[in-house]
Amino acid sequence: MADSPLAGRAAWLRAELARYDHAYYVLDEPLVPDAEYDRLFRELADLETAHPELSTADSPTRRVGGRPLAQFAPVRHDLPMLSIQTETDTGPSGALNFDARIRRELELAADAAAVDYAAELKFDGLAISLRYEHGVLVRGATRGDGTTGEDVTQNLRTLRQIPLRLTGDAADIPPLLEVRGEVYMRRDDLEKYNAAAAARGEKTLVNPRNAAAGSIRQLDPAIAASRPLCFFAYGLGAVDGWDLPKTHAGILDALAAFGLPVCEHRAVLSGGEALAGFHRRIAELRDSLPFDIDGVVYKVNDLALQRRLGFRSREPRWAVAHKYPPQEALTVVEAIDIQVGRTGALTPVARLQPVFVGGVTVTNATLHNADEVERKGGLCVGDTVIVRRAGDVIPEVLGVVAERRPADAVPFAMPDACPVCGAHTVREEGEAIIRCSGGFSCRAQRTQAILHFAGRRMMDIEGLGERFVERLVEFDYVHGVADLYKLQLDDLLAMKRRADEKDGVTPETAKAGKIPTRWAENLLAGIEASRQPSLARLLFALGIRHVGESTARTLADWLGSIERVRRAPAPLLAVLPDIGTTVAAAIADFFAEERNVAAVDALLAAGVQPADEHAPNPALAERLNWVELYAALGVPKLTPVRARQLAGVADGAALANGTVDAATLSSAGLPGEVIDALLDWLQRPGMRGLLAGVAMRRNELLAALPAAVDLPPTQDSAVTGKTFVLTGTLPTLKRDDARDMILAAGGKVSGSVSKKTDFVVAGEEAGSKLDKAVELGVAVIDEAMLLEMLNTGSNT
Ligand code: IVH
Repeated sequence: MADSPLAGRAAWLRAELARYDHAYYVLDEPLVPDAEYDRLFRELADLETAHPELSTADSPTRRVGGRPLAQFAPVRHDLPMLSIQTETDTGPSGALNFDARIRRELELAADAAAVDYAAELKFDGLAISLRYEHGVLVRGATRGDGTTGEDVTQNLRTLRQIPLRLTGDAADIPPLLEVRGEVYMRRDDLEKYNAAAAARGEKTLVNPRNAAAGSIRQLDPAIAASRPLCFFAYGLGAVDGWDLPKTHAGILDALAAFGLPVCEHRAVLSGGEALAGFHRRIAELRDSLPFDIDGVVYKVNDLALQRRLGFRSREPRWAVAHKYPPQEALTVVEAIDIQVGRTGALTPVARLQPVFVGGVTVTNATLHNADEVERKGGLCVGDTVIVRRAGDVIPEVLGVVAERRPADAVPFAMPDACPVCGAHTVREEGEAIIRCSGGFSCRAQRTQAILHFAGRRMMDIEGLGERFVERLVEFDYVHGVADLYKLQLDDLLAMKRRADEKDGVTPETAKAGKIPTRWAENLLAGIEASRQPSLARLLFALGIRHVGESTARTLADWLGSIERVRRAPAPLLAVLPDIGTTVAAAIADFFAEERNVAAVDALLAAGVQPADEHAPNPALAERLNWVELYAALGVPKLTPVRARQLAGVADGAALANGTVDAATLSSAGLPGEVIDALLDWLQRPGMRGLLAGVAMRRNELLAALPAAVDLPPTQDSAVTGKTFVLTGTLPTLKRDDARDMILAAGGKVSGSVSKKTDFVVAGEEAGSKLDKAVELGVAVIDEAMLLEMLNTGSNT
């Protein structure tokens, strides 16, 4: 049979597909397009279905399918799966101690040469053992108690990184080779998987480690197949008929040559200091690795020395795991508070028993929203939870340890009323967020709105931090943002006195009979200095829903004045670039609301005036045509094509005052049903008014346009149209200022470096963005070069 042409074809297909899998999943260098892979895969599957005798254990078709098991069969490991000693001293001495111990146990003299170690990462997943007989994967097992594990072959076959047949010369493949390693899940894969699971309304996976362990221990291989798992080999189990390499590093090289994935972050190092250096280097890399590690592992590299050192109970003497501070920890939820944001969004926040995690003491963690809490299996006050804090990311509750729930645990539910102002809460259709309906009468929303207003990228009021704003609102010195501009020195001093009284503190200075006023004067100066913001900053500062920095800039650039922005009806805004109907409606709604009108009027009356108001953008003339405007009205059945026909016979003013009859519309070629829908729409309350408003504001805008001939031609610079990334501290410019200058010159500024980046502007202590730029070959410039580019025409 083996010699038949069909058997030959099947063997060839298996080998090719295995080669493609290895290239794609292990080397990350795909060889063929997906379609070609799929074609060959289907051919093999069809062949095996037609001729079941051709099917083999190492066929890639075995990676999918398989029936659910009733239970896992126990597997006795020929060679026990050992554990590893841990060095919990997370400082450099952890490495030095290990080296000193090894030298002692080997009885090396003080002046004997340094010992070589293989240093690698300690992956945070599930330990497994893969058994290859004559190069074919015949069994995969978990560690279990180290002596007996579980047969999880079906599930492990679904991991594309695990070769079903070892690669290399048949003569070099040992009759028996057991490979030990770690199954893990990448963090980005976990996030993607969880997002999809959440969208399906399914429970999410807690963390990468649980995800790996939980997936491999599923009886149904279809579940394991649906989880994005990866594998790293780090050692050997039972081996027969193989002339072992002389070193651990040599073994890993050999495993890689057999087609097994071996992590690239490994090194052979001499002596304890070098190990400490590795520990430190990997610590810096930790947050940017795509998977979780909880330490590094050092192994005596020379196998002969390993044998001399031997074992102590279930641990080898020649290896140690040198840990890092944990990024996850268990703690108890003492309370669940609700925070109310600027837009009224209610966010549950867990108050935690203080716990040291990710290098800091964490006392609270966001729970995001009610749906998230639900997906984590519900949460009670009193629950023990897993908290994670990695890098600069805000602490997060990953999940609940169900078996530790106390009998008196109090289940958490989102409140029906705002905990700050008592207004009822609402949940918009299809939204996960629950909001306070109190609007600006809610103290929390007011506080947050004022903080937003004062923010660095908005009005940039120096010295106006959270504590001050809270106090100013609490004692009613500031009700709305305009009140900031009425504050007097005495107000601030009185507020401070009341705050101190309330806190029960008597400042030293007060005891000494002196009252410090400097801080208050500085704050007043900060407020004063913000009276003439750019129009874009002012618009952003108002906190209009969906209006971020770039939308605010578009509004400012195109309309040129606060008056024109606030008066523009939604359809008029919707014809501006990058402003869709949702955003346009949000802006118009904002300025239609009485309290917002009052707030803006009060601001202007208090002397706040944008410094850069100007005539509308001349290009507006093209945008304000009735074809576009009609299309933005949201009239049923009025597609862009129909809008064009309509605009041919009637403008908005004519439609609004009813001088256009059905016959005229029909003459434009509009079908009856579109005419009916249009006339119907015109009858709806408010629609004629809206149309008349659009017509009027349109005329005003057109009248405000500068005469085209008077316009100086817009001067392009070398910056125009280019994308910049700013990193590090620039010598003279603040980063915000540099950004503003680039944007003003028609360039773009992005937060991250990619192939689309034209220039990276690097200042002092530029970090990973600079590295990325160098890696991608993106041009790196300094502040001086940027300034020069800003002053240079694009043709120079
Ligand atoms: S070697 C002879 N190397 O850590 C020592 N283990 O207690 C056997 N682990 O759950 C283990 N990364 O799965 C070794 N690079 C690495 C490792 C590693 C993670 C896990 C292993 C086991 C635990 C050891």
